[in-house]
Amino acid sequence: MTDTFNAIVVEKVDGKPVASLKKIGLADIADEDVLVEVAYSTINYKDGLAVSGAAPICQVTPLIGGIDLAGTVIESRDPAFKPGDRVLVNGYGLSERFHGGYSQKQRLKGEWLVRVPDGMSLEECMAVGTAGYTSMLCVQALQDGGVTPDSGPVLVTGAAGGVGSIAVSLLAGLGYEVHASTGRVDEAGQFLRDLGASALVPRDQLARDCKPLEKETWAGVIDTVGNQTLATAIAQTRYEGTVAACGLAGGMALPTSVMPFILRGVTLRGVDSVMASLPRRQRAWDALAAHLDREQLKSIYEVVPLSAVPDLARDIIAGAVRGRVVVDVNA
Ligand SMILES: NC(=O)c1ccc[n+]([C@@H]2O[C@H](COP(=O)([O-])OP(=O)(O)OC[C@H]3O[C@@H](n4cnc5c(N)ncnc54)[C@H](OP(=O)(O)O)[C@@H]3O)[C@@H](O)[C@H]2O)c1
Repeated sequence: MTDTFNAIVVEKVDGKPVASLKKIGLADIADEDVLVEVAYSTINYKDGLAVSGAAPICQVTPLIGGIDLAGTVIESRDPAFKPGDRVLVNGYGLSERFHGGYSQKQRLKGEWLVRVPDGMSLEECMAVGTAGYTSMLCVQALQDGGVTPDSGPVLVTGAAGGVGSIAVSLLAGLGYEVHASTGRVDEAGQFLRDLGASALVPRDQLARDCKPLEKETWAGVIDTVGNQTLATAIAQTRYEGTVAACGLAGGMALPTSVMPFILRGVTLRGVDSVMASLPRRQRAWDALAAHLDREQLKSIYEVVPLSAVPDLARDIIAGAVRGRVVVDVNA
């Protein structure tokens, strides 16, 4: 085992978070039960916020960034895991309070670890990452709310982003009629159609002041944007439809009224991936293994080295990343 290894470490410089590639050792990571040789991590919107310093995601510093990782157990004091086990972690405070996945090695609590589903590679797991696992949590929120492919069209907002693009692919694969809302109709329109979107909704049609109730259109909504986009989507949701809200790419406000809820019985279902229970996680990952189109997944992501993370963090916050990014921590 080499003495030192690479990691992206977020430190405070003049009171501001700054991320850089460093050489660290095992003494620099926490003394948790399971030592994992990390193969891949990824870049989610939240990683962009943490690594670019755009928001104070890292609550303690110095801290290794990366809210996701996939790798192989090297050593374990937790009897539930043994060397060679393939594991992944999403959230659980990685890159917030605990060292994260932008590291060639990491020590983790056994209770954070999800077993990689049979047939999925570590690279595929991180192509899915928190973004795709959240997409599946959103899909399951719609299914649990009774939204079926026969219920009517489903809207996905922020569709060309990580959560959005995998949500489009999953829903289309499950037989839903998917309408994809994007600010990049020209650039990303074909990409979204290839993923299975049957119609495109320009962002401006939703990111505007809306009436308390608008024409009933959507049987279900997966919203990654928030703010006026979410408010308009709610106002357009059909009687007893379900809206799964997971993101704030357009802002954290929600300028809506009670009307869709009390006159149309609309359900607004919040989706949190970070502290979701292990059974909920395993259900989502098992469904991803069963339903995700692997060939389509390949068209959604690119693989980059660890050193590319700081630049890509800025890009994802600027809305300039399409689909998913896998970080090969050993490249
Ligand atoms: N609740 C959870 O547990 C959880 C988990 C993962 C992610 N999230 C949240 O979900 C959101 C999406 O995450 P992501 O990883 O998919 O990020 P992402 O890849 O950056 O995608 C976000 C997408 O939102 C759209 N967008 C960006 N800025 C916008 C604006 N000002 N107004 C309207 N639309 C805008 C863009 O889509 P178009 O180009 O198609 O318009 C962008 O691609 C983020 O807010 C993230 O924090 C939450």
